[in-house]
Amino acid sequence: MTASPPAPSKSFRIGIICGSQRKPRVGDQITDFVHEIIKLHSSSINNTATFDFDYIDIETLSLPFYDEPGIPSKITSPEEYAHEHTRTWSRRVAALDAFVFVTPQYNWGIPAGLKNAIDFLYNEWKGKPAMIISYGGHGGDKAASSLKLCLGGTECREVLYKAARGEQLKLEAAKNDGIWSSERKRITGAWDEMVALQK
Ligand SMILES: Cc1cc2nc3c(=O)[nH]c(=O)nc-3n(C[C@H](O)[C@H](O)[C@H](O)COP(=O)(O)O)c2cc1C
Repeated sequence: MTASPPAPSKSFRIGIICGSQRKPRVGDQITDFVHEIIKLHSSSINNTATFDFDYIDIETLSLPFYDEPGIPSKITSPEEYAHEHTRTWSRRVAALDAFVFVTPQYNWGIPAGLKNAIDFLYNEWKGKPAMIISYGGHGGDKAASSLKLCLGGTECREVLYKAARGEQLKLEAAKNDGIWSSERKRITGAWDEMVALQK
């Protein structure tokens, strides 16, 4: 009797992203810690998958502030980007299957450099799984929620494209139907809350 051959192993490339750029910072220590835990854990699980990690430090990416003339969601190949730094970044992210974001919480959100690096691309992130590890002086829940929102994109594609072209959105503040009519309550609610805080 012959033993059946081992199942072919699947190989995944995972981006581990350190979102902090401060000098000094703890972000690199926390990202290393997360990276090590994941490596130990993934090698101890008896499955057929193998994982390669690409450690992406936003600090050493040295991207400028967003300077592409186009809208990333319209771009389908790296060659369409205007700048070499974007093409390099695009190829790197496109080669990955999933992402581990490690981010500090800055002013209830994520650091500008991390958001900027995300903004440069769109299709390279799209549809790929991601996990978020956040930390901060008061915990990192708001940074995590904000990153989750940002990675989730928007559901209303038509409005997104109109907005990208700077077209008329036909927003009507006094009407109960139409786009974002449901947002009126949230705007008035926030206004009431702000007014109530005035001494
Ligand atoms: C600009 C800035 C804003 C911050 N805002 C918050 C905040 O809103 N909430 C919070 O919990 N911590 C805040 N912190 C504290 C950081 O989350 C905390 O020091 C964290 O460990 C910094 O990580 P890093 O060293 O990797 O940058 C802020 C720190 C900085 C530098």
